[in-house]
Amino acid sequence: MPFDHFDVIAPIYARVTYSSLDKMRELAELPVKGRLLDVGGGTGRVVTALRDLVDEVVIADISMGMLKQTPPATLKPVCSFSEFLPFPSDSFERVIMVDALHHVVHQPATADEMFRVLKPGGRIIIEEPDIRSFGVKLIALAEKLLLMRSHFLSPQQTADLFKNATIHAEDSSAWVVVTKP
Ligand SMILES: C[S@@+](CC[C@H](N)C(=O)[O-])C[C@H]1O[C@@H](n2cnc3c(N)ncnc32)[C@H](O)[C@@H]1O
Repeated sequence: MPFDHFDVIAPIYARVTYSSLDKMRELAELPVKGRLLDVGGGTGRVVTALRDLVDEVVIADISMGMLKQTPPATLKPVCSFSEFLPFPSDSFERVIMVDALHHVVHQPATADEMFRVLKPGGRIIIEEPDIRSFGVKLIALAEKLLLMRSHFLSPQQTADLFKNATIHAEDSSAWVVVTKP
């Protein structure tokens, strides 16, 4: 296994990152009855705030260091690659990914897996820093210098991983929303 930056920063990660979850709640149309999967969900920072808006939340992440920081009992952490999600097809009402797609090595396989495990009528929301903004270009450069293997897609490139995705952009963030017929 190559060196994993997230295993190292996991103990302080939730304290040094911030994002508004209002847009996620709105685009995911929460609350909803059913299960939510957070792919690349790390420490559970995002789903902890959404926990009461769904019946059950599951976090799939590759970093054991990040998963060890998830609050006990309230979330279900699963160590897995986003490219091979260990869940049956059509399992979740909502599948989200926040600030993780640019860290994933095989982005098309990840998109296919997120779509596979989504229930018909469900929604995928992918939130990413918007690489079209200058500040995010600087972050991308910094991650390259830290040898983080990041690969940022534009919002359109992310949407093109799916059929019929819509793009929402605000400030330096972009959200891609996919519904499964
Ligand atoms: C910047 S953190 C974001 C964590 C969380 N979504 C949040 O916003 O707090 C990126 C996460 O993606 C995970 N990750 C990267 N590549 C992955 C992959 N192929 N499969 C699953 N998780 C992955 C990392 O371990 C890390 O926890």
